[in-house]
Amino acid sequence: MSDRLNATTHSAREAFVSRFGCDAEFIASASGRVNLIGDHTDYNEGFAMPMPIDRHVVIAASEAEDGVTTVHSASLNELAELNIQNPLAHEPGWKRYVAGVFHLAQSRLGECPPMRVHIESRIPTGAGLSSSAAVAVGIVNLVEQHAGTELGLLDKAKLCQRAEHEFAGVRCGIMDQIAIASAKPGSAILLDCRSLEFEHIQLDPSLAEVVIIDTDVSRTLAGSVYGDRRSTCEQAAAALGVGSLRNVTRASDLDSLNEIQRKRASHVLAENERTRGFADAVRAGRYEEAGELMYLSHRSLRDDFEVSCGELDCLVEFAERIGAEGGVLGCRMTGGGMGGCAVALVRAGQSGEVIGRLQADFSAKFGRSPGAFGA
Ligand code: GLA
Repeated sequence: MSDRLNATTHSAREAFVSRFGCDAEFIASASGRVNLIGDHTDYNEGFAMPMPIDRHVVIAASEAEDGVTTVHSASLNELAELNIQNPLAHEPGWKRYVAGVFHLAQSRLGECPPMRVHIESRIPTGAGLSSSAAVAVGIVNLVEQHAGTELGLLDKAKLCQRAEHEFAGVRCGIMDQIAIASAKPGSAILLDCRSLEFEHIQLDPSLAEVVIIDTDVSRTLAGSVYGDRRSTCEQAAAALGVGSLRNVTRASDLDSLNEIQRKRASHVLAENERTRGFADAVRAGRYEEAGELMYLSHRSLRDDFEVSCGELDCLVEFAERIGAEGGVLGCRMTGGGMGGCAVALVRAGQSGEVIGRLQADFSAKFGRSPGAFGA
């Protein structure tokens, strides 16, 4: 267990005691994730390469004597009674989502008695680091502990994705949930979102490190843009007569699409290629080549898929200016986009220096220093 997970667990235990006046009987956790490459490919049955980050959600719980399920969210500082039998009785929002995950988990793993639950998260929210998928996986881990039995990894990921669709109203793909359910510290996965097979690929810590820089730009438009891009991709696939854009392999096959569809679909095609190339490069220890693919991915998300934002574009430019001589091998926006974080691949041992330079460049331009940390 990492020092950070230890510290978050400790803090969740203490908060549980002070809120509910007894010790937590169950402790479950899940990490956030950062996607190294392969964005907006998962719902097109393509490839993605996410890895877990050393930031977690920890859930502390005990059976409740008063027969009511009560959940406390530390980040929101809110306490709520949950209707697990009928999550849709809650207004849209975190209570409906949390109740929904409990509901689905119990329908697979058997009913839990009412519980007192404390949720403590150190994963920045709205930053593209999958804080909400981590809460879902953490809850399912908790229900598994209580039931004394486990769902398979893919079943767990699908259940959490379903909760996101049905109770949060977000038609997300499956990348986040599989990345989190399969998490091994320091190891990325090359995920095939069609077969749902994945392969763990360890980054060599003596060669490269992963750094995350949070623009702290609120992703208010993120939901509507996400839905729009997903629909455009589905329309493009339908216009081409294929089940998903994964079935299209040549750029020339896109000629019959309208301009917007063609731009979105060409991102998906090229991103799938880049993701496989990135995995090959990492396996072979060719980190400079992997970094170049990250810059290309960013350009494609910026120009063809149009899900970046000014702050992310500037961060990537600053990173490119620092360049390989300064320790940066590659950089790109990560996750759904429209704000949130950039991810950089940095030469081993140079993370501290690179973070310092990126923060200085960013604050010279935007008047505030972005949060940054090693994955
Ligand atoms: C969000 C979604 C994922 C994926 C990414 C973009 O994180 O939850 O399923 O589509 O955006 O790659």
